[in-house]
Amino acid sequence: MTKIKYPTPGKETKRKTKPAAKSAIKVELKKSIFSKTKLVLREDTVAYVVNNPDLVTLEEAARITGKTTHNIRDYIQRGRIAKLDTEGRPIKRAENGELRVSLKEVQAFLYLVSQRDEKHHHAGLHPDLGFYGLAERERTKHVNRLHPYLGKFIPQLVEWFLNRYFKKGDWILDPFLGSGTTLVQANEMGMPSIGVDISEFNCHIAKVKLGRYDLALARKEVLEVESRVQRFSNRLHQKDDPSLELFPDDRIDKLKEGILAECKSEYLRTWFAPNALLEMLYYRRLIPHYKYQDLLRIILSRAVRSSRLITHYDLATPKAPIAVGETYLCRKHNRLCMPIDNCIEKIHAYSEDTVRRIAEFDKLRSDKPAIVVNGDSRSVQLDQHLPKGVLLDGVFTSPPYVGQIDYHDQHIYAYELFGFPRNDASEIGPKKSGKSKAAQEAYVNDIAAVFRNVSKYLKPDGKIFIVANDRFNLYSRIAELAGLNIKETILRAVTKRTEQGDNPYQESIFYMVKNKKV
Ligand SMILES: C[S@@+](CC[C@H](N)C(=O)[O-])C[C@H]1O[C@@H](n2cnc3c(N)ncnc32)[C@H](O)[C@@H]1O
Repeated sequence: MTKIKYPTPGKETKRKTKPAAKSAIKVELKKSIFSKTKLVLREDTVAYVVNNPDLVTLEEAARITGKTTHNIRDYIQRGRIAKLDTEGRPIKRAENGELRVSLKEVQAFLYLVSQRDEKHHHAGLHPDLGFYGLAERERTKHVNRLHPYLGKFIPQLVEWFLNRYFKKGDWILDPFLGSGTTLVQANEMGMPSIGVDISEFNCHIAKVKLGRYDLALARKEVLEVESRVQRFSNRLHQKDDPSLELFPDDRIDKLKEGILAECKSEYLRTWFAPNALLEMLYYRRLIPHYKYQDLLRIILSRAVRSSRLITHYDLATPKAPIAVGETYLCRKHNRLCMPIDNCIEKIHAYSEDTVRRIAEFDKLRSDKPAIVVNGDSRSVQLDQHLPKGVLLDGVFTSPPYVGQIDYHDQHIYAYELFGFPRNDASEIGPKKSGKSKAAQEAYVNDIAAVFRNVSKYLKPDGKIFIVANDRFNLYSRIAELAGLNIKETILRAVTKRTEQGDNPYQESIFYMVKNKKV
């Protein structure tokens, strides 16, 4: 039987001497999908509170409900269940070892989730593919959170299909590689893969995720660059530190001047506070002195993205920079916030994290090839990149959709900082072209051209899986024009897509095969 921890006898006695609270505490599950659910903890009898077997630690809640502690923590973070102290009071922050949840509340929540699953099942949505109980940590496991990217799918979705329709050693293609989720998952499952993307920066993210590293050296380099930038930053902020003799007064001014002269980008000068700009440019200067330059670029890019003069609640699509030092009412933190005025804070946050993530993936990865190609999937010649004679077993991909995202602009800060060449004109379905009938028509032709092209490299019985939010019902025409047959359409509810906020929507996964008559 599960053992439930009760307060220590000493604590119990102490608590009993206190006057009993008269009122009940109401914990409203705000923002919850069950927003009408109210949990009322009766505190009018002290004994109830002290000996309340309903209060359990996260580990106990996980054990009893068959979930993981990560799951339980995730429910708390998402506001699905309340965070309580050892006496059942709702709290914001728990002291060490004090965190409790109400077992009844966890069970009630899980019951409602199972009912919702049932409802989705009746609506024709695949019950496995909503991934409702999956903790954020799992969705973004290891290298899948090496760099933010708007519009990526979760590795569990890829895993589900690769598991059912393919086997170890099968060659998998993603013609819309994005940040490389398909290739990372395929590699983890022992499948060789190839991916193509029109955006050079996206290919860069994918390559860094899939790279092989001497982990000790990678760690040494990352931490050394971080500490060199930290010293530079200390000097900028006039901190008293003996190691700052590297930057004597007369030299620091010259150094700043020289660094700023290297910055030709109006964008960088506008979207960052002066010290943040200096720190990121100083980091960029150091990169050529190290072996793992691409890895360092990804850490810097991630830090730079988080150091823009923008609000905390609009990291993905900020419209304009806000002034240094200006306060705003923050929707994320529900208080007055100020934009960040430096970059080192984020460099510090992401350096160790990146090293940990590549080390985690290193333990899981296979030695199968994962080939990244920067190109246009309508015309790319895959045979020039694949080993001689290889035909692909399948495709797993999510194409851009009509007028939703500008994929180059999404990472404008990285293009400006590293000077990667841009290929916006070849992006399919960009946001800037809108969703008009003409835009839809162009989209149909472009996506069909991609599948016509890549089908040439596919085995006759190759399987194609396309994840799309097909709001305009374009995919049956695309299939026809590409010489493909839709064998099955699987619907799934999307409750939380990484980097896309909490708005639920439905997407289709089209399972297509080559039309034998073509
Ligand atoms: C929905 S995203 C893919 C996201 C990916 N599944 C992931 O998890 O990161 C679509 C991608 O298609 C790329 N793309 C757009 N037009 C393209 C083209 N003509 N050829 C190749 N890739 C293109 C975009 O740059 C974008 O990265």
